[in-house]
Formats: sequence, structure tokens, C-alpha cells
Amino acid sequence: MAILLPGGAGYIGSHTAVELLNAGKEIIIIDNYSNSKPQVLEEIKQITGKDFKSYIMDYRDKEKLEKVFRENKIEAVINFAGYKAVGESIEKPLEYYDNNIMGAIALLEIMKKYEVNKFIFSSSATVYGEPEKIPITEDCRTGGTTNPYGNTKLFIEQILKDVYNADNTWDICILRYFNPVGAHESGKIGEEPNGIPNNLMPYIARVAVGQLEQLSVFGDDYDTPDGTGVRDYIHVVDLAKGHVCALEKLEKEQKGLYIYNLGTGTGYSVLDMVRAFEKATGKTVPYKIAPRRAGDIASCYADPTKAKQELGWEATKTLEDMCKDSWNYIQH
Ligand code: WQD
Repeated sequence: MAILLPGGAGYIGSHTAVELLNAGKEIIIIDNYSNSKPQVLEEIKQITGKDFKSYIMDYRDKEKLEKVFRENKIEAVINFAGYKAVGESIEKPLEYYDNNIMGAIALLEIMKKYEVNKFIFSSSATVYGEPEKIPITEDCRTGGTTNPYGNTKLFIEQILKDVYNADNTWDICILRYFNPVGAHESGKIGEEPNGIPNNLMPYIARVAVGQLEQLSVFGDDYDTPDGTGVRDYIHVVDLAKGHVCALEKLEKEQKGLYIYNLGTGTGYSVLDMVRAFEKATGKTVPYKIAPRRAGDIASCYADPTKAKQELGWEATKTLEDMCKDSWNYIQH
């Protein structure tokens, strides 16, 4: 029985593919390479020494999706396919709603037809909007997302709850990621943002390597220890392992709809990140203070207790690992 990974060549999908293969699972990747490269599949094979099947296709294409389900015995789907750039989503809302929501629906429809009931969904801490309390627990209010990307995560969560309520033979796990950073320690796979990065860690790495001149720190007057924004950065390999634990839970436990925060529980500020990166790499990261970025909140970090108790999962990699592995990847 195979685990189907739509978007498995992407940043989080590829790291999860490695951890699933290392855990002895069979995988199948489907990807249209809209924000990834076919070469990633070779890297995954090299890292793990294992082979797997893959299909080049858009996950919204139900005919092709059916073919995949007909040709293979699929046990579960972990959905990594989806557009993820906040700024782009504001400019192209229809593309975001179409790709993310219609893709999730296509998967659920075909799964239902082929009686595959285990679904793991990549959600985001963005669904908490302005968080009700910090650290954030899974029962905190959701809503108040400030962009179409965040709305797609919120809407798909609602769709999954409705699907489960209508038919509780589904077995669903929603994983709310905090801020994934870093890369595989081999340096073979990592994050490759198109153009100028929007997210902090890839931006810092590009300043350190000399491709960008300096970092703009978006606001130093937040109500945080040093005035800059605080986030819960999590190493992508820790995050990937969280999916293996989630899958094992769905395989063992009674059916249900489960929701977990995947974060470390520790918040670091923008300036903490700059200093940690400089220390880990020996490079200087010039920065200037700039105005706040629209839609940003002061602080966001997880209470990861539920995932520890119910999945037996916790993040183990340090901030130094995150910085070193990002740096190692960008130099490859
Ligand atoms: C982190 C901190 C910025 C860039 C977003 C999405 C989320 C998830 C991850 C994606 C903030 C500051 C950043 C820069 C800066 N989605 N910053 N200068 O905004 O927490 O989360 O990415 O797939 O849903 O909302 O992450 O890395 O953009 O920002 O000062 O050039 O760094 O203001 O405090 P964010 P980020």
C-alpha cells in the first residue's frame, strides 16, 4: 500500500518523502513542477537509496488522478500541493482559490470513489489570524486570515470538517505548520523560492551569500522583547517527521478528525534570527529597520503539547541546525 504525495517534489513534500521512505513506507509522488523541479526526485532517491513511482500531472486533473488510483493501491494521501506565497495570493486570488481548494476537492472526490479514507492536510498557523492567546493551542479561535492564501487553508480545514461530519469513516489529520525553515543536512533538497524571497530565512541566506544587499526588518516597534516580530521557526526535517507520526496515528487509532500544531514552542525575533545566522555561518547579514509589513502580527508561536502527547512527536533540531542547513543548501 502506497502513500500518495501530491506536491511531493516541493519544499515540505520532498523532506516528508525522505522521512517516509526512511520509515519503510512506499510512496508515489504527483507534481506538476509549477514550483519545484523534477531533479528533486533524483535527490530523494539518492538520499534514501530507495526508488518510487511518480507522475507529472496537475492534481486537479480528475481523469489523471483516477488513473493513479486505478494503477496503484493507495492507503493514504498527504496533500502538499498548493500555492503558498502570501503576496502573490493577494494579486492572483482566483488562481489560489482554484488551485488550492479545487485540488483538495478533486483529491477527496477520487479518494471517496476508491474508498481511500486517510487524508493528511498541510495547514498553517495562519488560520489563527490574530491569535487569541500565545502560545497557541489547537482549540484557539480560527479565522481573521488576512490574505487569499490563508483563506484557502481556513476554507479547506472547514471542508475537511464538513466531509468528516457527513461521513465519519474518513480518517483525517490537519497539521498546522508554524514557520518551516532549513533544509536536509545533505544539502541536496531545500527551499528554492522563485525570485526575491518573501520569507525571512531564505531572504537572510541570500543576503549572507551576497545575492541581496541587505535585509529589511519589517518593524521594530512591536510589543515583543526587542520590538521585532516573533515567530516559531521549525526545521523542515522535524516537520517532515511530524507527518510520519501523523500517518502512524491514522494507521493505528480509531477513525477521527485530528488537528495538531507542528511548531517548537519557542519564539525567536527577527533580530534573534539574524544573530543566529551570523553565528552559525560566520557571515555578516547587513540589515535596516523598515516599516511594518501589512498583515503581520507581533508574535506567533505554538503550544506543541498536543502533538507530543498524541503523536509522540516533538521538534529536536536547534536554531543553529536550521541556520547551518539553510546555509549549506544555498551553497550547493
Ligand atoms: C517572519 C518574520 C516578518 C521578511 C508566512 C505566512 C505563513 C507561512 C510562512 C507559507 C515576520 C519578518 C520577513 C523580511 C522581515 N506560509 N520579516 N523581513 O509572515 O510569519 O509567515 O510564511 O508558506 O502562512 O504568513 O513568515 O518568514 O515572511 O516572516 O523582517 O524580509 O520576519 O515581518 O516578523 P510569516 P515570514
